[in-house]
Amino acid sequence: MSLRHIDELLDEALDATFPASDPVAITEDRDPITATVATRPPLAVLAAIVFILVACALAYAYTAGWLSPQQLTPARMVDALSRRGGDPVGHRRNHAKGICFTGEFEANGAGAVLSAAPMLARGRYPVIGRFAIATGNPQAPDATARVRSMAIRITAPDRQEWRSGMNNSPVFAVSTPEAFFEMTKAQELDPLTHKPNPLALARFFSNHPESGSFVAWARSAPWTSSYADQAYNSLNAFYFIDAAGHSHLVRWSMRPTLPASPVSQSFLLSLGRDFLDLDLSQRLATGPLRWHLIVTVAERSDPSSDATLAWPANRRQLDVGTLIVERAESESDGPCRDYNYDPTILPVGIRPSRDPLLAARSSAYARSFDLREAEAASFPRSHGAK
Ligand code: HEM
Repeated sequence: MSLRHIDELLDEALDATFPASDPVAITEDRDPITATVATRPPLAVLAAIVFILVACALAYAYTAGWLSPQQLTPARMVDALSRRGGDPVGHRRNHAKGICFTGEFEANGAGAVLSAAPMLARGRYPVIGRFAIATGNPQAPDATARVRSMAIRITAPDRQEWRSGMNNSPVFAVSTPEAFFEMTKAQELDPLTHKPNPLALARFFSNHPESGSFVAWARSAPWTSSYADQAYNSLNAFYFIDAAGHSHLVRWSMRPTLPASPVSQSFLLSLGRDFLDLDLSQRLATGPLRWHLIVTVAERSDPSSDATLAWPANRRQLDVGTLIVERAESESDGPCRDYNYDPTILPVGIRPSRDPLLAARSSAYARSFDLREAEAASFPRSHGAK
């Protein structure tokens, strides 16, 4: 075989490997470096890398809310809650003024037909709780808050927990997180007057007919001078799951054994800024306070996802046990301070409903908790309203 013949064979082989459309064949560039850059596979790899990086950046920006600054995030919600007066640093961003309590839940066993939750089996279970007023201002006078609350954490022997935050209103003011945000914005301080604009809240309620039952309650319910004579309601619905796996839509209430003693709001204004804590400590000095835990079972027609709607009064109710409150302690050093009463922390046998407020509460409480715990690390435990 002649040398010329070998050259021809090589040319044929090269033509077959790099057809005319191939960039290497067109340029006839045999420099190994240029040839490597000019081939297709590395370009495709580079493009794929760029694509993945851009996709990751977009996904991050999307989840961080950068692509939709109007999207309601826990951070925006909690920021709005923090702008309603006082110095919220180191405190809960809602229900900011409160007092810790400890005691026990004495289950009578009746709840076991509806739920396999271990703390509904007959027995006594430790409780760490908190009474509070629904305000963003940890220094607010008690007489200025219409809504009072009770939060509880009941612990079973196997360490499962049932956390619940309940208000003394019979219904909630709004049914969606978006409306709650709008209502919160209507309570923000006016930068000029340093007071909330009363017209803003009135305007909000007139645009939100679903708030009607709450507003009617707020206008007419008797004021009292005590946490001890109030009923506290879950408002959101939950599912109780029984031992056979059947689910029951329920709401629950803590019903006081003390009758309410109505007084006027102007009388409360004369009592001093912190009369609720004082009243609680004085009552507990003479003995424990008690509430019955009443579970209301829904019927098919009852709404599962709208906390502005009360269920009819004739629904089946079960008294499942007694909360016994024994001691109260200041929040700044008390046992409830570092608890997040997230209502979706539930034991086996209780599940959240699809009420959109529940998921929003969970994420906002976590954000509020993270902020106040980080802030509290920078000042001594005794800092704050009390
Ligand atoms: C979208 C609706 C809601 C949002 C965004 C919201 C937000 C918050 C936040 C941020 C806190 C402070 C949590 C912490 O730092 O531990 C809080 C406390 C509280 N909220 Fe809500 N809330 C909502 C609805 C409700 C409802 C429907 C109830 C009533 C049953 C309720 C009852 C309470 C109670 C009882 C506390 C005080 C908990 C404690 O004492 O630690 N909230 N809320």
